[in-house]
Amino acid sequence: MSGGLPGTPEVVATPAAVAERTATWLLDHAARVTDRGGVFQVALAGGSTPTAMFDLLATPAWSRRAAWWQWEVWFGDERASPPGDPGSNFHLADEHLLRHVAVSADRIHRIAAELPDLAATARAYAAALADRLPPGPGGAPRFDAVLLGLGSNGHTASLFPGEPVLEVDDTWAAVGRADYPPFDRITLTFPTLNAAAAVAFAVAGGEKGQALREVAAGTAVAARVRPRDGELAWFLDAAAAAAMERAAAR
Ligand code: 6PG
Repeated sequence: MSGGLPGTPEVVATPAAVAERTATWLLDHAARVTDRGGVFQVALAGGSTPTAMFDLLATPAWSRRAAWWQWEVWFGDERASPPGDPGSNFHLADEHLLRHVAVSADRIHRIAAELPDLAATARAYAAALADRLPPGPGGAPRFDAVLLGLGSNGHTASLFPGEPVLEVDDTWAAVGRADYPPFDRITLTFPTLNAAAAVAFAVAGGEKGQALREVAAGTAVAARVRPRDGELAWFLDAAAAAAMERAAAR
């Protein structure tokens, strides 16, 4: 049902099951670091799919399973929206997870994409990454885990088809542009995504079928996420997987 996707795809029945599976994956990767006293460096996805996972992790039954005080939280991308704006990826994570768990405020790295000089903000974010994370393959900062979503046009983070940021190979975060508002973005670049120790895509809904098909075919933007020395996981619900199969049969 998920033939051809790179890495290790898993199909589960529902969006709620995707949230649960992704939360379990994240906690497992966190424990590998925090159990030995380390700081878990993680980049969270934006959009709407992560909401259910954030809500789950914020429940007592789940939140007690993480050493949050040993987490350092970053964002895969951010929109040019103020932090209190519903369109902000920081706002999503803060409302549904971060304000409910004990991640230290100085270890939450919001991308201030609402500021006028996006390039300067991207440079500052890239410098903070280089300062706080160890270098990975190719010299990019190495996350312990990165969570990503998949757009119906095959984008991920704020790496959109046809945009110059797709070819950026000499910095770790850069200015991007979406094909829907808010248009102006800051995003991790492929060198950073591909230096990660583990990347997981969480994908739900039949509208993602064609994009999944294009990932499998290697033509989607998201197909370029291939960790050079790390795990690549896909968590799909049955609707997305079935739509992928239908797209493949067309
Ligand atoms: C964003 C995300 C983006 C998202 C996909 C999927 O800022 O919107 O980073 O890459 O993950 O567009 O979005 P949904 O989860 O809402 O389908």
